[in-house]
Amino acid sequence: MSYESMLAGVTAMLALYLFSRRRRSIIRNILGPPSPSWIYGHMLQLVFSPEYGDHEFVWQKNFGPIYRLKGCFGEDSLMISDPVALQYIVNSPHFGHGPLLVNVVDMLFGKKSLVAAKGDAHRRLRTAMNVGFSAATVRNYQPVLLRAAQQLSEQLEESYAKTPTSLINICPLLGNATFSAVVQAGFGCSIQDLGDKFVANNAQIVALSSSQSAPRTFAIGACLPNWIWRTMIHAPLAAFKEIRTAKYLTRQLGEKIVDGKIDLARQGLEIDTDVFGILLDQYLGSKTKHALSPKEVAAQFSALVYPGQDPTANTIAFGLLELAKDSEFQETLRAEILSNIGASYDSMPLLNAFIKEVLRLYPAAAMIQRIAIEDTVIPLSDSIETANGEPITQIPVAKGQVLTLAVASFQRLERYWGADAQKFRPTRWLDRTITPHGTSLGPYANLSVKFWSWS
Ligand code: HEM
Repeated sequence: MSYESMLAGVTAMLALYLFSRRRRSIIRNILGPPSPSWIYGHMLQLVFSPEYGDHEFVWQKNFGPIYRLKGCFGEDSLMISDPVALQYIVNSPHFGHGPLLVNVVDMLFGKKSLVAAKGDAHRRLRTAMNVGFSAATVRNYQPVLLRAAQQLSEQLEESYAKTPTSLINICPLLGNATFSAVVQAGFGCSIQDLGDKFVANNAQIVALSSSQSAPRTFAIGACLPNWIWRTMIHAPLAAFKEIRTAKYLTRQLGEKIVDGKIDLARQGLEIDTDVFGILLDQYLGSKTKHALSPKEVAAQFSALVYPGQDPTANTIAFGLLELAKDSEFQETLRAEILSNIGASYDSMPLLNAFIKEVLRLYPAAAMIQRIAIEDTVIPLSDSIETANGEPITQIPVAKGQVLTLAVASFQRLERYWGADAQKFRPTRWLDRTITPHGTSLGPYANLSVKFWSWS
C-alpha cells in the first residue's frame, strides 16, 4: 500500500470516527462558555490556565455546577460539579474511565494491572488488594512513613545549614520521600534495590506526567481513537521510548520482587510486612478465596509505584505551603501534635481538619474523565435551564458521551462548603459550617478526592 493511500485511509477513518462521536452528543442545549478554538475547544484553557481554575472557577460561577464545554475538534463535553450527578456517575455501572485515562493506562500499565482492568476483573482485583490497604494495615506502615519524614527533615536542615538565606525547592525532596515510602510500604525494598535504570526511568515518567507538554499531547490525544495511540506508542519519540522502557522494567521488577518473597516464605521467614508480602501471604497460606496468584501480584507493581508518588507529594507540598503562610496556625498545630506524640491520629482533631482542608482545596486529581458505556440519565440535585429556557432536572446522555467530573469545582461549591469556600480554613471541619447535603461522594470526609474505595 502506498504512503498516500494509507494516509487517505487513516484520515477517512478519523473523520468518520469524529463524525460518529459528534452524532452521539445530545447535550448541545446545555449552556456553556463560547469556544475559543475548533481544534482545541476549551481544552487549553481548562488544562493550561496559569493558575489552576483561572477559567474553570469563573465558568462555574457563571453557569453553575453543570455546563457544556467543547473538547477537541468541536466535540461537546459536560463539566459536572453537582453532587447528586457526581455520586450517580461514580457509583453507576454505566460509566467507565474516559479515553484520556484509558489511553495512558494502555500505554504505561499492563492489561492485568488494577488500573487497566475493567468490570468484574477490576472489582476482583480491588477486593483482593483491599487487605493491603485497610486502616489497620496502613497503621503498620507508620514506621516506614516516619523514616521517610525523618530523612526529609534531615535533608531540609542540611540544605538550610549550607545556605540559610536561600530558597529551598521542596518538591523534588517530597517526590523522593514519597517514592521511598511507596516502595518500602508497597514492596518492602529500598529505592536502591530497584536499580539505577528504573530510578532514572521513574524520574522521566514522573516528569512526563507533570510536564506541560505531555498533558497537552494527552488532552489532544484523548480525542483520538485508541488504535491510533496503540500505533503511536511504537513511534521513535523520546517520550514513547521512556514509556516503553517503563512498561518493560516494571514487569521485570514486579516478577523479581515476587520471586524473592516466595523464596523467603519457603525458608519460613515472615513476608507480610508490605503490600506485596501481604498479598502473597494470603495466596501461599490459602487465607482467602480472593487471593491473587503470584503472577497477578507482580502485575500490580506499576499500579502502586506510579499512582502512589505524585498525588501524595503534591498534597503534602500544598499543605506545607499553607502552613508557611500562616505561622500562628502552624504553631497551634505543632502544639497539638507534640502533646499527642505516640497517640492515635484520632486524638488530633486539628491535624485531621488540616489534612481534610488540604485535600478539599487542592485535590490531587482536580478533574476526572468518565465515558458513558451505555445510554443513561444523570439525575441533578437542582434543575438547570437549557439554552431554550426549559428547566430540566436530569440529563439523558448517550453511549460514548465524555464527561468531566470537576472535582476541584465541587470542592469549592459555596452552597455546600460555605461562603468562604475559596479560602483555606481548616476549622470549617470543626465548627460545623459545612452544609450537609446527604450525598456521600468519597470514603474520606465526603471529599471526592478518591472516587473509589478499596472495598
Ligand atoms: C494524597 C494522596 C492520594 C490522592 C489524593 C489520590 C487520589 C486518587 C484518585 C482521585 C483516584 C481515582 C482516579 C479516577 O477514578 O479516575 C486514584 C486512583 C488510584 N490511586 Fe490514588 N491517590 C493518592 C495516593 C495514592 C497512593 C499512595 C497509592 C498507592 C500506593 C495510590 C494508588 C491508586 C491506584 C492504584 C488508583 C486506581 C484505582 C482503581 O483503578 O480502582 N494512590 N487516586
